[in-house]
Amino acid sequence: MTRVFSGMQPSGDPHLGNLLGAWVNWVAMQDDAECIYCVVDLHAMTSPAEHDPATLRQRTVELATGMLAVGVDPERSILFVQSHLSEHAECTWLFNCVAGFGELRKQPQFKEKSEGRGESVSVGLFDYPVLQTADILLYAADEVPVGEDQRHHIELARDIGQRFNHRFGEVFTLPKAVHPEAGSRVMDLQDPTRKMSKSQSSEKGIVRLLDDPKKIEKKFRSAVTDSATDIRHDRDDKPGVSNLLEILAGATGDPIDKLAATYDGGGYGPFKQAVADAVVERLRPFQDRYRELEADPGEVAALLERGAERARAIAAPTLERAKQAMGL
Ligand code: ADP
Ligand code: NA
Repeated sequence: MTRVFSGMQPSGDPHLGNLLGAWVNWVAMQDDAECIYCVVDLHAMTSPAEHDPATLRQRTVELATGMLAVGVDPERSILFVQSHLSEHAECTWLFNCVAGFGELRKQPQFKEKSEGRGESVSVGLFDYPVLQTADILLYAADEVPVGEDQRHHIELARDIGQRFNHRFGEVFTLPKAVHPEAGSRVMDLQDPTRKMSKSQSSEKGIVRLLDDPKKIEKKFRSAVTDSATDIRHDRDDKPGVSNLLEILAGATGDPIDKLAATYDGGGYGPFKQAVADAVVERLRPFQDRYRELEADPGEVAALLERGAERARAIAAPTLERAKQAMGL
């Protein structure tokens, strides 16, 4: 059976982009793959602005709760917190001695995130893709579902794995990135030319999964569209309207063409209201389930502990073989 690994950083409250771009896929993949999902708290520490210890601890539990609420099934899949296992950090060191300074320095995400921060940028941020390589290779994952922005990191993981195998013997399975189909990229409601993001969007531009219906309506009402009135899908000409159509399609499951035909001619007001209503409906079961889980933190902690044990059962033997291969 195909094995899938994916992780998400507890770096802020999850939003509609995380749901439609990642979690919907995560849940669906459980039907035909062995899935391992991880709250990558060690990764979240690489961003100094966000690393407040109490906040990190809280967001880690909240993100895991969100994953459970959205439908990650802790029986069929393995759900765990990265730092609950020491194997990830340990394997990162092994890979640090295989990865090249030059290939890390060139990573687009590092360049982007370190820009303007000069010498104060942390070694952790630099090493982020090596930790990610450890996450993936420790589980012999075949597929890693990620956004387009993570493509380079998966290529790097393959390179490091391949180099390791070449130098020390076949220990690691080389993963393949799988990208969610087009249309699942949710854009900022205030600036539909860039993606909705926990770290970059203003509060008005981002729909949080736990926003109440009033807040959701308000955000969609003030979503940026354009000065015309037609409703059709054209990302270049009409990025705002196209984004709303995609969100509506994601929330309802209806095809974009059909939705465009339904709402075209009726004006932006009713269209935005329809998108808001659909999103509120889509999020309702998630929010209800989240509140139930939140009321039972002991249960969530127990599930994560069990998840960590199951993860360790896979990761520990892999790490042991890698250490042996390297002469440790
Ligand atoms: P953020 O940019 O909000 O911090 P992350 O980088 O933590 O999000 O991404 C977590 C997952 O959610 C990734 O799989 C990523 O591709 C997906 N994702 C994040 N933002 C969006 C978006 N706006 N549209 C679609 N998918 C997204
Ligand atoms: Na991010």
